[in-house]
Amino acid sequence: MRSAIDTTKPSPARIYDYLLGGKENYEVDREAAHVVLDDAPEAREVAVVNRRFLAAATRYATRCGITQFLDIGSGLPTQQNVHQVAQAEVPDACVVYVDNDPSVLLHAEALIVDNPNTGYIEADVMTPAEIITNPVTQRLIDFSKPVAVLLVAVLHFVPDGNDPYGIVNDLMEQVAPGSMLILSHATTDEINPVVWERIQRQNERLAVPANFRPGEDIRRFFDGLNLVDPPGFVFLEQWAPGEVLPVDRSQPLKLRCGVAFKP
Ligand SMILES: C[S@@+](CC[C@H](N)C(=O)[O-])C[C@H]1O[C@@H](n2cnc3c(N)ncnc32)[C@H](O)[C@@H]1O
Repeated sequence: MRSAIDTTKPSPARIYDYLLGGKENYEVDREAAHVVLDDAPEAREVAVVNRRFLAAATRYATRCGITQFLDIGSGLPTQQNVHQVAQAEVPDACVVYVDNDPSVLLHAEALIVDNPNTGYIEADVMTPAEIITNPVTQRLIDFSKPVAVLLVAVLHFVPDGNDPYGIVNDLMEQVAPGSMLILSHATTDEINPVVWERIQRQNERLAVPANFRPGEDIRRFFDGLNLVDPPGFVFLEQWAPGEVLPVDRSQPLKLRCGVAFKP
């Protein structure tokens, strides 16, 4: 049975969709997005640069010979989705999207209906075993070969009490050597204290609060992996060199990111 869509509480997927200029959001999401935008008007650009990182890292993975992608916390379909980027490079690349928001399911299914190498499952990042053993994942992904695991702007929705490090560890244990972790995460580094205080207050209203973390804690997600360096573990806008980026680096809202190989 499909889960019901709750339109009474803002959802991370729909707030993000609104920030990216999408139409799959409700008044409650737009209101929540504007609370963020009032304090951090660069939030739209941050979302755009996050998508740019996701596309650049996906392209990088294909150029390293990776043709399988597990995109967890995929979000509502937008421009440059992982299967579009990967299959533009490698036409038979396989992609499994995973999200726990029922709003995403509806739109993701419509986007991939004619694409046999792309699947979607409704699941929670907090239950990695369910993601791995899901029949869609098992049909599309050969775990004896390298896989790119994307955890892009999702782990900040996992509180410390739900062991986000254990989740990443469990996922990376399931994939073959040569697999890749592609990760971005909201950080408290260099955050304006006034913005931080408001974000924490707004968290109380959100169905899923955001757990911004210090960079040193985000860096730990890459423990045991070989970070691609340069660019290394950096702020989002520093990852894709050569691209023109719109973010004013003096602005406070930041994400840290990195890409790493499993040895
Ligand atoms: C900020 S969006 C990021 C979307 C995409 N990864 C990107 O970076 O463009 C976060 C996504 O994570 C999803 N999400 C949040 N908590 C989740 C969880 N526990 N399990 C799976 N997905 C989750 C949300 O529904 C949303 O679609």
